[in-house]
Amino acid sequence: MTQTILITGASSGIGLQLAKDYANQGHKVIACGRDKQKLETALDDNRIDAVVFDIQDGASIESALSAYDSLDLVILNAGTCEYIDDAKKFDAQLFKRVIDTNVLGTGYCLSAVLPKLQRGSHLAIVSSTVTFLPLTRSEAYGASKAALDYLARTLAIDLAEFGIDVSLVRPGFVETPLTDKNTFKMPGRISVQRASEMIRQGLHKRKKIINFPFVFQAIMRLLALLPNAVWHRIAVRMN
Ligand SMILES: NC(=O)c1ccc[n+]([C@@H]2O[C@H](COP(=O)([O-])OP(=O)(O)OC[C@H]3O[C@@H](n4cnc5c(N)ncnc54)[C@H](OP(=O)(O)O)[C@@H]3O)[C@@H](O)[C@H]2O)c1
Repeated sequence: MTQTILITGASSGIGLQLAKDYANQGHKVIACGRDKQKLETALDDNRIDAVVFDIQDGASIESALSAYDSLDLVILNAGTCEYIDDAKKFDAQLFKRVIDTNVLGTGYCLSAVLPKLQRGSHLAIVSSTVTFLPLTRSEAYGASKAALDYLARTLAIDLAEFGIDVSLVRPGFVETPLTDKNTFKMPGRISVQRASEMIRQGLHKRKKIINFPFVFQAIMRLLALLPNAVWHRIAVRMN
């Protein structure tokens, strides 16, 4: 069945791949980004609606999406990642940038899209496997994604009575511009095509939580079972 699917952060990486793959499957895709030219150049597909807004600007989201009354699937994927290089000189501006985009931006999107979701529709929020364990330099990114984990899981409870399913998506490392800039080792890093496939499969099954890739997330989950003091010693040594 053809669905109307809205995806944020569709100008690059995971969101762009999802937009292309869903369009190729024949769905009506509304691909969102904040830079019109970058978004349209990246999509290069006139079957896809390119919609421009900054997720930190609630009013512009409402107005950009006013033409759409009803959405079947919404994937809130837009996000950013910055690391705290020196915890002792805590960069509050960096912290604010990451929280504003990943947490508040998701909140503004929710406020605009939830009225457009009917019984039977589906919402997905993209978090990260970083939330399994405290990892070095991830104070800002990890805190923002931990907030999204909680947000998605509580929304799943509160939207159940409206017949709206909520999926929490936790990718491991994926080859995108966001991770291209990392200089550290990224175990189990997968292609963006594979990431899109795993997300689409999980969403098709209406899984409540979509963790991938399998081996990396399994290792992270096993490590998360360690007593905190043991993980703490390992993580300090990794730093
Ligand atoms: N890649 C990974 O390994 C990985 C792992 C776990 C989770 N994730 C999550 O997956 C999601 C997608 O990441 P990605 O790797 O595909 O990164 P990416 O290629 O950098 O894409 C991020 C997307 O978010 C958009 N965006 C950022 N801030 C925005 C704002 N204020 N308003 C509107 N759009 C904004 C970007 O738009 P611009 O092009 O205009 O910047 C871009 O389209 C993120 O939430 C990320 O945290 C990624």
